[in-house]
Amino acid sequence: MEIKLDGVEGSLVLIKQGAEARVFESTFVGRRSIVKERFSKKYRHPSLDSKLTVKRLNAEARCMTKARKLGVSTPVLYAVDPLLHTLTFEFVEGQAVKDIFLDFGLQGIVEERLNDIATQIGDAIGKLHDGGLVHGDLTTSNMLIRNSTNQLVLIDFGLSFTSTLPEDKAVDLYVLERALLSMHSSCGNVMDKILAAYRKSSKQWSSTLNKLAQVRQRGRKRTMVG
Ligand SMILES: Nc1ncnc2c1ncn2[C@@H]1O[C@H](COP(=O)(O)OP(=O)(O)OP(=O)(O)O)[C@@H](O)[C@H]1O
Ligand SMILES: [Mg+2]
Repeated sequence: MEIKLDGVEGSLVLIKQGAEARVFESTFVGRRSIVKERFSKKYRHPSLDSKLTVKRLNAEARCMTKARKLGVSTPVLYAVDPLLHTLTFEFVEGQAVKDIFLDFGLQGIVEERLNDIATQIGDAIGKLHDGGLVHGDLTTSNMLIRNSTNQLVLIDFGLSFTSTLPEDKAVDLYVLERALLSMHSSCGNVMDKILAAYRKSSKQWSSTLNKLAQVRQRGRKRTMVG
């Protein structure tokens, strides 16, 4: 496909088609890049739809920039195009934590690597939360490990929002816990390791973890009823 976007040259190669966004690989001023396009919801009025899409687009860009300011590594944002509804980012070379963790059960990544990644995850979430930012979609697909530095990079701030409520932060952690339990059971107590790092990183850990205990209980009750 040949689409001309401002500053984007060459072709766009689709790498993910989601419900609300399409993600392409491309080049931006000669650099390997990711283009994320939010598309419209057909049932909404076109001009209202465009306004809401641009709002989400800006919110995602703002939250990512905020995360970076809080000391959490994110891809560099190259461009925001409110007409084409696209965000262009630096392409991060590296594996998703999802794939690294899935390999753990198979070939057994060294325990040390697992611990290092878990520590980086807990540390990053603590920084976000103390800065009043909730990621909103903490899954292992939205975490990359940069090849060159082994550093954790958080992506996909499409559902992020600002909040200082312990409840919102607890739900953020709970989403991750559920994802780890369902997909990465071979990684053992990785959530405990993440939470140990979170406690060190977040000054407000105690109120958040108290809430997390309540959120877990609600989750259990719901499973029993459902
Ligand atoms: N900066 C990046 N560098 C390398 N790969 C990326 C980058 N951004 C996204 N990707 C790849 O594209 C996939 C989809 O991107 P992303 O998670 O942002 O979109 P999404 O899950 O469709 O978004 P949403 O949840 O907002 O609908 C990621 O899981 C990752 O594999
Ligand atoms: Mg994603």
